[in-house]
Amino acid sequence: MAKGEHEMVVRVLASGLHPTVRTRASGSHYTGAGQLPLVPGVDGVGRGPDGLLRYFALGPTALGAMAERTVIDTRLSVVVPEPADAVTLAAAMNPALSSWVPLRSRVRLEAGQGVLVLGATGQAGRLAVQVARRLGAGVVIAAGRNPEQLARLPQLGASALVRLGEPDADPALGELGAGVDVVLDYVWGDTAARVMAALASHRSEPTRPLTWVHIGSMAGPTAPIPGAALRSARLQVIGSGQGSNSPSQILAQLPDLVLAIRQGAFEVDARAVPLPEVEQAWLDSTGGGQRLVLVP
Ligand SMILES: NC(=O)c1ccc[n+]([C@@H]2O[C@H](COP(=O)([O-])OP(=O)(O)OC[C@H]3O[C@@H](n4cnc5c(N)ncnc54)[C@H](OP(=O)(O)O)[C@@H]3O)[C@@H](O)[C@H]2O)c1
Repeated sequence: MAKGEHEMVVRVLASGLHPTVRTRASGSHYTGAGQLPLVPGVDGVGRGPDGLLRYFALGPTALGAMAERTVIDTRLSVVVPEPADAVTLAAAMNPALSSWVPLRSRVRLEAGQGVLVLGATGQAGRLAVQVARRLGAGVVIAAGRNPEQLARLPQLGASALVRLGEPDADPALGELGAGVDVVLDYVWGDTAARVMAALASHRSEPTRPLTWVHIGSMAGPTAPIPGAALRSARLQVIGSGQGSNSPSQILAQLPDLVLAIRQGAFEVDARAVPLPEVEQAWLDSTGGGQRLVLVP
């Protein structure tokens, strides 16, 4: 039952099975509640007793969104104008926020600037290509491993593609990225360190600011950043997540992103799965292909 002034019990309509849902449940995410038993689910779309449709995010709670009902903090929610597709919103908000928030509130991308998306073949990376374009990027270089997903990216806004894992990937990124202003990095690990070194050694103007935004750690939790990269280029490494972005910084970005997704601004790959099939959905490894969305 809802207790606090800002708490509300909502009927959940859709909740995405994001990587963060899995890592919070396994106890390895830095925002985890550290409690068991745990109902997983970090965000979703639901309807409250006031009849309004809301996108909501959940703090570190053991009462997650993968349920018929959950308790939300209305301050972490935004009312969604209807009609709206709950499954698409639940699939897209978490991965899209990963680029939308830093590009709008941390880096403040300027029209015409260049962006490199490192790890562009997952849900968040594919949305990052589209978000960067929508926010005015002049050039978006997309780097990722999966060749089929990579090949889809030009139609979503990528100007150039680099296949990670190929022997010439690092020098190719160095050359293509010589003039980029922002890197959105979902990969981290050794890959990020190598690409950082390649970019730093190819800068068209070494003093041109380059902001490297660490967002995800798909290739490893640590990256051996070469000191020479920091000395030879005006490289600034920042992280974007809960903590480095304040709650108010994130919340301020929700309404515009909800509207953009609702208007169909982005291609979103989502598959609705009935909540009783959660066990199989949890075991399914979909990679970056489709975002599974639990529907009670
Ligand atoms: N900080 C934030 O605000 C925020 C928000 C949302 C998500 N994230 C993080 O962003 C990351 C991606 O999330 P997502 O929703 O896009 O997940 P996703 O849809 O599951 O995609 C993950 C992709 O990572 C790629 N990958 C895995 N291991 C890799 C490696 N060793 N080298 C290069 N690429 C690798 C895979 O691409 P291939 O198929 O090409 O191998 C996979 O498709 C996760 O770490 C997530 O926690 C952060």
